[in-house]
Amino acid sequence: MTDVALVAAPGHDDAALGVDPTTVLAGVAYANPVFTASGCAAAGQELAQFFDPSLLGGVVTKSIMLKPRSGRATPRMAETPSGMLNSIGLQGPGIDAFLERDLPWLAERGIPAVVSIAGETAEDYVKLATKVRGRKGLTMLEVNISCPNVESRGQVFACDPAAAAAVIAGVRRASSVPVFAKLSPDVTSIVDVAQAVVEAGAHGLSMINTTLGVDINTDTLRPTLANVTGGLSGPAVRPIALRCIWQVHAAMPEVPILGMGGIRSGLDALQFLAAGASAVSVGTAVFGDPHAPLRVLEELRSALAHRGFSSAAEVVGIAHRPVDARVPEGADPPGDLPAETLET
Ligand SMILES: Cc1cc2nc3c(=O)[nH]c(=O)nc-3n(C[C@H](O)[C@H](O)[C@H](O)COP(=O)(O)O)c2cc1C
Repeated sequence: MTDVALVAAPGHDDAALGVDPTTVLAGVAYANPVFTASGCAAAGQELAQFFDPSLLGGVVTKSIMLKPRSGRATPRMAETPSGMLNSIGLQGPGIDAFLERDLPWLAERGIPAVVSIAGETAEDYVKLATKVRGRKGLTMLEVNISCPNVESRGQVFACDPAAAAAVIAGVRRASSVPVFAKLSPDVTSIVDVAQAVVEAGAHGLSMINTTLGVDINTDTLRPTLANVTGGLSGPAVRPIALRCIWQVHAAMPEVPILGMGGIRSGLDALQFLAAGASAVSVGTAVFGDPHAPLRVLEELRSALAHRGFSSAAEVVGIAHRPVDARVPEGADPPGDLPAETLET
């Protein structure tokens, strides 16, 4: 793994070099807490023309299914206020091509791979986990359960705690690496789903996947997306993501969280760590700025240094603790954070 100190090129914030960015997710140590988000950087190759992806904590690959898929009909992307809607529909080469081409590319470069898997039945997920098992470079499985379950009238696994738990239990039995369940915010109680998948064996949780939306074209007066609905992502969803992470971390503080949803800057990432995430994924921001994941990492390290923290780990879940119990030695007290705001 590349020394993360190399991230800070001359002219960057020297104070940031004093911050230990390492993070541990379910017993696996990563050089830093900034990852790509599934579906927003394929398997990392495209990013390599902009920066060295081995400088990130890891690359979360686009959700892979058993067979190649061309995805949904176009148009399947739409810009919305502070975000975007997509209905890509899990386009991809299928697991065999992924294992032959994409995962080795990451492994050869020493880039920790978090492989995202997606299926139409609980059995699909088990087959995928079995195929990926023991592959070089694989450090974690992210189980995308925001997929329609063809055996249950298309109900999304992540919206049904029992179906979500069944998928995770199967994947857990087939996997040799930590299993993270990726949750959907489109549920009445995210804590109920989180508890169900953790009881079924999930080592950790990824939050959040996109939230369902619709856009209408005001000229045609028809839905903008061919699929009508799409997943909303980008800064518009950030408070929803923070709310989900806050609620789940409060209920299960021992369960590691990989947080995502609208992260564009180091300060955004800092919010996620403070809410309870041990690491973050940068997704939609990559479409406007391909350097975003690396920039977020540099900005996060600066932000930690300037708040008197010596490691990223110190901040995880800090927003849940009373203000007077958490000021690092030598740092200015956070006078702009009234206790009553933090406790509501
Ligand atoms: C174009 C696009 C494709 C996505 N594909 C996947 C995917 O294959 N699997 C998955 O779990 N999430 C997928 N997501 C969701 C992201 O990984 C992430 O959870 C979500 O977009 C929120 O983060 P963001 O606002 O930083 O993008 C996709 C998002 C976008 C915008």
